Amino acid sequence: MKSSEVFQEDEQLMLSTYRRLPLVIERGEGSWVFDPEGKRYLDCVAGLAVNIMGYGYQPLAEAVKEGAGLLLHASNLYHTVPQLSLAKSLCELSGLSRVFFNNSGAEANEVALKAARFYGRRKYGSRYKFLAFHRSFHGRTLLTISVTGQEKFHQDLEPLPEGILFARLNDIQSVEKVIDKEVCAIIVEPVQGEGGVYPAEKGFLRDVRALCDERDILLIFDEVQCGMGRTGSFFAFQHYEVTPDLVTLAKGLGGGLPIGAVLFGEKPLSVSRKGDQGSTFGGNPLACRAAKVMVEAVSTPDILQGVRSKGEMLQEGFAALKNRYSSIITQVRGVGLMWGVQVPNRAADIVQGMLERGVLVNAANPDTVRILPPLTITQDELRHFLKVFSAQLEAIVV
Ligand SMILES: Cc1ncc(COP(=O)(O)O)c(C=O)c1O
Repeated sequence: MKSSEVFQEDEQLMLSTYRRLPLVIERGEGSWVFDPEGKRYLDCVAGLAVNIMGYGYQPLAEAVKEGAGLLLHASNLYHTVPQLSLAKSLCELSGLSRVFFNNSGAEANEVALKAARFYGRRKYGSRYKFLAFHRSFHGRTLLTISVTGQEKFHQDLEPLPEGILFARLNDIQSVEKVIDKEVCAIIVEPVQGEGGVYPAEKGFLRDVRALCDERDILLIFDEVQCGMGRTGSFFAFQHYEVTPDLVTLAKGLGGGLPIGAVLFGEKPLSVSRKGDQGSTFGGNPLACRAAKVMVEAVSTPDILQGVRSKGEMLQEGFAALKNRYSSIITQVRGVGLMWGVQVPNRAADIVQGMLERGVLVNAANPDTVRILPPLTITQDELRHFLKVFSAQLEAIVV
């Protein structure tokens, strides 16, 4: 099918909920994707932090091919080895105790929030509230959207579940001000992604951990976007040196196959009962085989060190661009290979312009261009990205 035909049929057939860019992706290779007409694009979005080992990663393709022939699905009525093998790797890497699998980031956060509710109710009877942060994003289910600190997602969904409090990231006083005796958990993205790439400060997360310890409140890190090597450590909590009670993963974990995971520390486990959580597809053998390959690949020193050094290179590149185009770029935020460039009201135009120049970037919001390349992007490819970004800024500067 030609691109123009795809655009036309999409208009007629699909629920028009996505603001899609005019690009049909037919295949991918390394850090590049190709449209049906053969034009190639350097992908600095990586399927929203999913294709983290790049496209066509052979060990992944082979594991999926082999796994598809062996066993696609078994249900959680029975045991399967791929699930166990993935759980073992995640427990070893995290130091946390147990794992629950499901299919997406939102579902993983639902499970973590429910686990915290169980803790609050079973240990204290009266604790049920969640504290979350402004600008956060935790998913599209009714509960995860309710702990998402962006009003635009709440419109026309009211009444939302009761007992959700919001504080400001990197402002411990705002947390102390709103927290009360009925809070069972604090949920935070160590690096806020959808809200525009806002990294937490180390001291802030340490203070939040101390507050949670003092009051026996569970700390949930949503690492759906910033985990899996994105910060230069396998888990973002390792980058921050703060251990949460529950960690959620999805996106890059399956490298393209849908899988979510929740890692449990001892506190939520202490109240856990049979039947608390469940999922038909969760931890299906095919997704677990894929995820095992991804975990093995991303946890290597080569990949993690590469993310850190390429992150430094991007930071320098962005600093130079901010100097040169100070009328367009007002702030640059990020860590590792997760960056947000603040360009008030110009993100959509820049994304479109970059697309025409053969580079994919994303508008996290109208003010922020977000860059989430595959962790395997090369330094040369990053130099190409910076060159094209610079040309795009040059074209719109007045
Ligand atoms: C931090 C974070 N949490 C949760 C989600 C929801 O994940 P999913 O779309 O897989 O449900 C996202 C998705 O962007 C995310 O960035």
